[in-house]
Amino acid sequence: MSETQSHAGPLSALRLEERLRDTKLFFGQALRTFHATGSVVPSSAALARAMAEYLRRRPQLDPSLRIMEVGAGTGAITRGIAAEMRPGDTLDIVEANPEFAAHLERLLETDPVLSPIAAQSAVHAALVGDMGTDRTYDVIVSGLPFANFTADAVREILDYYFEVLRPGGTLSFYGYLYTKEVKAVIARREDYLRQARTSWVVQEWIDRYGIRSEKVFANIPPAFVHHLRKPEKDS
Ligand SMILES: C[S@@+](CC[C@H](N)C(=O)[O-])C[C@H]1O[C@@H](n2cnc3c(N)ncnc32)[C@H](O)[C@@H]1O
Repeated sequence: MSETQSHAGPLSALRLEERLRDTKLFFGQALRTFHATGSVVPSSAALARAMAEYLRRRPQLDPSLRIMEVGAGTGAITRGIAAEMRPGDTLDIVEANPEFAAHLERLLETDPVLSPIAAQSAVHAALVGDMGTDRTYDVIVSGLPFANFTADAVREILDYYFEVLRPGGTLSFYGYLYTKEVKAVIARREDYLRQARTSWVVQEWIDRYGIRSEKVFANIPPAFVHHLRKPEKDS
């Protein structure tokens, strides 16, 4: 057996242990605060990869990117971002839940995928609405559970993203597939209507600025990723 093969077992066992720890923490927080967490398990690697599409797509000689990830949870999508980051890129990781924020700080020290970007990254234990407008970004990756928020809250967040996004910059976010259909059956009428109003706001932004959408079935639940671009000049 080669040296690489002999290390493959223990290494993947370690990774598995780390992912199980993430999932346990995520599930525990989801039970405590489902409204803000929005899911019961972290996103899959396939969803993380899809969310990092516009980091991967940039030309080889492009300048460094200023990136913001919002709603990082236990770092599932952060790992997808980290895999595409280059020297000189910076990442602001925004997470409102203090337990998740502390976990992310630890991961930046210990996680094999995240520790290489530690010097380029900062964790902000804050609500996105408290981040201010003094920094601008080339890429924003949002994991916020819009479907759980009111239409006004989502409009405010999307307005904020487009304020701090530089012209030509991209915003990527996802929603879960079939939530409207499921809610039509199980949710109370007012919650169904709230979500319908929220989805109209999201759709309005996709119609205005959308450049690409893709379904990711390899995730629990399956997700719909949307990429939007801020116009170079206000039209
Ligand atoms: C659906 S989870 C996504 C977690 C992670 N990105 C993933 O994909 O596994 C949403 C995350 O957004 C965070 N969150 C919710 N509202 C927020 C807000 N207003 N500002 C910052 N983070 C928020 C939650 O604490 C939670 O970690």
